[in-house]
Amino acid sequence: MARRSVFACDRCGYQAPKWLGRCPECGAWGSMVEEAPPDSRSSPVPDGRRSRPIPYPEVPTADAARGATGVPELDRVLGGGLVPGAVVLIGGEPGIGKSTLLLQAASAIAETGRRVLYVTGEESAAQLRLRGDRVGVGSPDLLVLAETDVESICASARDATPALLIVDSVQAVRCSELTSVPGAVGQVREAASRFVAMAKSTAIPVILVGHVTKDGALAGPRALEHVVDTVVSFEGDRHHAHRILRTLKNRFGPSDELGVFSMTDRGLEGVASPSELFLAERTPGTPGSAVVAAMEGTRPLMVEIQALIGEPTHGTPRRTSLGIDPNRLAMILAVLHRRAGVEVSNRDVFLNVTGGMVLVEPAADLAVAAAAVSSDRHQPVPDDWTMAGEIGLTGEIRSVSRLEGRLREASRLGFKAALVPAGAGLTDPVDDLILHPVKHLAEALDLLFT
Ligand code: TYD
Ligand code: MG
Repeated sequence: MARRSVFACDRCGYQAPKWLGRCPECGAWGSMVEEAPPDSRSSPVPDGRRSRPIPYPEVPTADAARGATGVPELDRVLGGGLVPGAVVLIGGEPGIGKSTLLLQAASAIAETGRRVLYVTGEESAAQLRLRGDRVGVGSPDLLVLAETDVESICASARDATPALLIVDSVQAVRCSELTSVPGAVGQVREAASRFVAMAKSTAIPVILVGHVTKDGALAGPRALEHVVDTVVSFEGDRHHAHRILRTLKNRFGPSDELGVFSMTDRGLEGVASPSELFLAERTPGTPGSAVVAAMEGTRPLMVEIQALIGEPTHGTPRRTSLGIDPNRLAMILAVLHRRAGVEVSNRDVFLNVTGGMVLVEPAADLAVAAAAVSSDRHQPVPDDWTMAGEIGLTGEIRSVSRLEGRLREASRLGFKAALVPAGAGLTDPVDDLILHPVKHLAEALDLLFT
């Protein structure tokens, strides 16, 4: 008897024998996805296959077995390299450079004599070769497979026992038992779980490429993010050469690491000192700009924030914020008004983090406020000043994580003074950088603009 598929709700897990437009359980629309039929034969686990508990000190550590990919910026984002049996999902918009990055990593690993199986489901092997020749791939230990059937890919991986399996992309592969088209949520989820099962049973690490839609969501998003061990996103503006690789989730390392690359005509190059890149085009002495000593994971990063405040061109004032959460901006503007007497409610406010960076940490608050006030007063922030601090609703400047690391990076790049939260307890200069501890926003603005 043929086993039949089931359909399960993406949100609440409700199951039905046929597809439904709306989940009767939680009421979500379009959330039912096809799943592989459940295996109903419940058999007792044979003795040889039963897992055994082991004493804690004998549990192997993941670090010991990590394998470097040979692309240092990628290793950094993975938390130090590839963990055996781990499954990594790399998401990004089409054309951002996912295939290029992975082909370079594959090639670097193969150069060290370890085998890599690169499955290309979207492009033909010849197309892959075109890109490979451009970035200088040549090792015979790099195996290329043009295939889209999951089981057949897993079988090839078991045969070849590579040091890494790359599947480009998870949306292109299909499970023959499911009737839905490749790329459908159910297909993507099922394919991903099979790769996970294969990875866990063979200890072969797997990297899955996933395309994201315009609004930044991975197709089959929630489903996939839970299935894999690590989720990394590859971002960037196609009009800029640099690309940012960011950890969103990592079971084997910090989940907020950042890698920076530059796309050249011979592939991606790691950028060892991203601060210099982000500050390269800064124009000293112009109002409306402030530099935040930011921290992305364990990496300090100096980033310029720009603000432009002006009379509204028509009617309602506009608020546009790129790289900073608009709600955060609204809060900072409200605090500026109530606690520091800076009134911008009836004016246009444009905010931009340069270089296409996205800053999520509240430590950028103080620089956002400084850039806004600087634009409002037509008075530049001193060129060699930087800052880090979260702004609270009463206008207090709150502590930020890893302050010393940020300040050392600032000093390295030639900054001479920094506004820091008084609560951090740092007062002595860090290298050549003079610290100005501040308790309140008004105090910070006084120091900057008088
Ligand atoms: P690709 O890796 O195909 O992107 P994805 O797999 O994310 O869809 O990269 C495509 C872009 O990168 C394409 O616009 C060409 C550009 N590129 C370079 O600028 N230099 C290079 O060496 C390569 C291989 C690609
Ligand atoms: Mg591609």
